[in-house]
Parts: sequence; C-alpha cells; structure tokens
Amino acid sequence: MRVVILEDAAAVSNRAADIFCHTLRKRPDCVLGLATGGTPLKTYQELARRYQNGEVSFSDATSFNLDEYVGLPAGHPQSYRQFMHEHLFSCTDFDASRCHLPDGSGNDLKGASEQYESAILAAGGIDLQLLGIGSDGHIAFNEPGSSLASRTRVKALTQQTRQDNARFFQSIDEVPRLSITVGIGTILDAKHILLLATGEKKASAVRAFVEGPVTSMLPASALQMHRHVTVLVDEAAAAWLSRADYYRQVEEVQSELEGS
Ligand code: F6R
Repeated sequence: MRVVILEDAAAVSNRAADIFCHTLRKRPDCVLGLATGGTPLKTYQELARRYQNGEVSFSDATSFNLDEYVGLPAGHPQSYRQFMHEHLFSCTDFDASRCHLPDGSGNDLKGASEQYESAILAAGGIDLQLLGIGSDGHIAFNEPGSSLASRTRVKALTQQTRQDNARFFQSIDEVPRLSITVGIGTILDAKHILLLATGEKKASAVRAFVEGPVTSMLPASALQMHRHVTVLVDEAAAAWLSRADYYRQVEEVQSELEGS
C-alpha cells in the first residue's frame, strides 16, 4: 500500500486528478470505478477543469459507480446518479451510455445486483477504482461485518452512516435504510485502487485500515491484501498514523526514483 501524505484537501484532489489523467492517457478506453460523497468532489471539479482546458478526455472511457441508495426515484436530487450527473458527467465528455450505477429503483434488486457484476466483467474489469472511506471504515456501502469476499448486493446502512449522510438530506429520516453496493470482493478485483481521505473525522479510520489488522469489522483493511493501492491523505486525516515519518521517507525515495 502506498500511503501519500499531502498538505491539504486541494493537494489530495490534484494528485488524484493526476492519477486519473495518467490512466486515461495510457488507455483512453479504460474502465473507471467512481465514488460519490464529499471527498471526491474537488477531484471531480479538477477533472472537469482539466477537461475544459483540453488536457483530458473521457469520451472513450466506461464508468461504474460503487453504490446507489435503494428506493429513491430516478432524478431524486440525492440519488447518486444525480450526484454524478451534476458533479462530473455533465461537466465532461463522458458518454452517458457507458456511465453505470446500480439500479436501486426497481423491484428485482437481486437481479439488478447480479447484472451489475456481469456488466463490470463484460467491460473487462475496473482499471482504476476511486474510493472514499466512512468514519466506521466502510468502503462503498460495505459496512463493518461485510464479508471480505462480498459481491454486489443489497446492504442495510448503519445508523452511523445514515447520520453522516443526513447532511445531504432535510433530516435523517429521509436517508434511505438500504443501498445496492459493489462488494469488497468486487473492489479487490480492480487493477489499481485509489483511496482518498481528508479531514480529522477520518483520522481514526485511516489509522485502523492502514496499520491495524485485516478484519471484516473494518472493511477498508481488506485493501492490505491488494497489490496496487494508493492512499492519498491530507495532514488532518494522517494525524493518527504511527508510521507517518516512514511513509514520508518512502515518498521522498519514490519521487527521486520516478524523477530519475
Ligand atoms: C460513496 C461511498 C462511500 C463514501 C464514504 C465517505 O459512493 O461509497 O463509501 O465514500 O461514505 O463519504 P464522504 O466522502 O462523504 O465522507
């Protein structure tokens, strides 16, 4: 796991955008795994800015989002489809027909979950998977206790996650109780995983998943089992890391190697 400690959230977003652009330049028809929530917003803004400057194009890319609430009608302002449209798809040249999110609006949620897994496979798998992390260590909506081998399925949200996400709704009562989410196994199949964490509220979860044991009680810890993970954190989210000095030292050496 490569842990990169950066000054602030803006630096995290810039570095994340660099990694996206590098992936897209290497393979314009790559498959991107995308996340919603507060953390990736600045990265999406930066990608939109670079697109508008002619620095990057998404026209041949395919995307799969991590998750979607169950029961919100299409077009609901808090649905993740709407979020993606507003913050990334409509600001860039993504081809809407290749932008996928799980469908949490129908009656056959099991069928929709299975179809989603098949669609990812048919697209050739995810090249770059973007992740945020919940304050309880969840990735996508795999809450503590989720199987580390899980695939796309319906998952109940914890009270903690509903509370964390209530800021986007009028009240916590409006936050759905269920989601369709890719599984931890689905995430681990991605070729490169990029996790972003910013702010002091994430410091405890960051320490636990980077330096603690691998356990289903802290879903992000499963990333320790993956061969290519980049973790970008700001100083506030890195505050509880006991080996921060070592990660900084590794980065210095790594930058020298990459520069040479
Ligand atoms: C969103 C998702 C979630 C968020 C996590 C952090 O698609 O899968 O796991 O990444 O809840 O959310 P923020 O970024 O709002 O703190």
